[in-house]
Amino acid sequence: PVLVVDFGAQYAQLIARRVREARVYSEVVPHSMPVAEMLAKDPAAIILSGGPSSVYAPGAPQVDPKLFDGDVPVFGICYGFQAMAQALGGTVARTGGSEFGGTPLTARPEAGVLLRELPAELPVWMSHGDSVTAAPAGFTVTAESAGAPVAAFEDLAGRRAGVQFHPEVAHTAHGQDVLKRFLYDIAGIEPTWTPANIIDEQVARIREQVGDKEVICGLSGGVDSAVAAALVHKAVGDQLTCVFVDHGLLRAGEPEQVEEDYVAATGIKLKVVDAQERFLGALAGVTDPEQKRKIIGREFIRVFESAAREVAAAGDVEFLVQGTLYPDVVESGGGTGTANIKSHHNVGGLPDDLQFKLVEPLRTLFKDEVRALGLALGLPEAMIWRHPFPGPGLAIRIIGAVDQERLRVLRAADLIAREELTAAGLDRDVWQFPVVLLADVRSVGVQGDGRTYGHPVVLRPVSSEDAMTADWSRLPYDVIARISTRITNEVPEVNRVVLDVTSKPPGTIEWE
Ligand code: XMP
Repeated sequence: PVLVVDFGAQYAQLIARRVREARVYSEVVPHSMPVAEMLAKDPAAIILSGGPSSVYAPGAPQVDPKLFDGDVPVFGICYGFQAMAQALGGTVARTGGSEFGGTPLTARPEAGVLLRELPAELPVWMSHGDSVTAAPAGFTVTAESAGAPVAAFEDLAGRRAGVQFHPEVAHTAHGQDVLKRFLYDIAGIEPTWTPANIIDEQVARIREQVGDKEVICGLSGGVDSAVAAALVHKAVGDQLTCVFVDHGLLRAGEPEQVEEDYVAATGIKLKVVDAQERFLGALAGVTDPEQKRKIIGREFIRVFESAAREVAAAGDVEFLVQGTLYPDVVESGGGTGTANIKSHHNVGGLPDDLQFKLVEPLRTLFKDEVRALGLALGLPEAMIWRHPFPGPGLAIRIIGAVDQERLRVLRAADLIAREELTAAGLDRDVWQFPVVLLADVRSVGVQGDGRTYGHPVVLRPVSSEDAMTADWSRLPYDVIARISTRITNEVPEVNRVVLDVTSKPPGTIEWE
């Protein structure tokens, strides 16, 4: 792998993603990892990321000079660039020329490889107080800016290079080109991290782990569990049984997508548990959001558990598939305590006494890679590009008690919103598009000659990177108008459509 050493800023994961986009496998490691341990991973290259501190600040993370003893190619970015300069005998100083944000860079592309064929003037993203004032011996300086006399350097013989700016952010023109020049031309790495290769590698790994044992997997209708199961199925075929708990809280067409399209595409052995009545019974009369989540989480575990026991009774089930993604792995290593705003029930979370061993074929992957894999595995596009959907489903989009009738009304309105968004070609511009039924609110309207006393629905389209923060999507008015007209015409129980224009924070994405 290419190791991205995390110096504590938010950039390391982004760098790792950009490296993967260049079709090179990468992993994030903490700066506290001893160099011997890094080298034991046999890295194709090491990238030192940006960090929050000055190399001279007390307690600033240091780069162990041993890193440079071997011949592993190294690329330094921002703080990593300065730490590298210092470790190799260059000079880092506070010049008073701090730069934050968009900055013009003056490059000498022909002087080296890193910036080859790029314009001599280009806008880059900077964030630094200290600057490298003299490059270490053996390095050629290939760029400068007003605040950074040495803004890029390289030592081709030593296969080392660095930049003061952030090539991984979108604001840096040609940033991805710079990264590729390092990976391909300086470090000499072949771009082989393709969906087909990832699939081959994972399939081999799953076969080795599972052997001839049986495997079980819970499908939620979401992309992660669908791709994880498809990979396992490709590896061990009918040793895999999938369980789909239909809790009756999915949107129109989604159970069919799992039960028909997905099975048709994969040939997976699927056990469907129709638990709609059980869930609705348990939810009857419940209005408190956290209460709803607890009930759904509890019922889900019970239903899945008994289905799993049935499957297990029939064979030698030893493994459970989980769709854990790489960012979860990196972040759970970070371990910062965040406030419990909503108790998210993780579909597939199971009690310990089931004691399955976990198969986690997506553990090294980012979401976009999971999607690319899904497409390469031939899964239905609608499933691959599905927006994130909460485990408790429509239950937390009905404000008030949940019942069959209210679910029917919300499903109808939600389907219209989704259809129009898709028709406008905006699916990928929007992170999520909850439609919320204010089931306990009524308002007066007029339809035809008659007075109506119906319910409002709220449109909640949001843009986001990771659901931690979000902004309301500025959908074109004519799209919103079409959704509104169609809902009020086609869903008689709804006589008012309102748009939620709250960012997160202070609002959350869901209403409950
Ligand atoms: P909020 O509403 O907290 O949502 O801004 C952030 C993201 O999490 C999803 N969400 C959930 N997912 N179980 C889940 O699996 C839950 O209980 C749950 N509540 C919210 C929400 O759809 C958004 O993507």
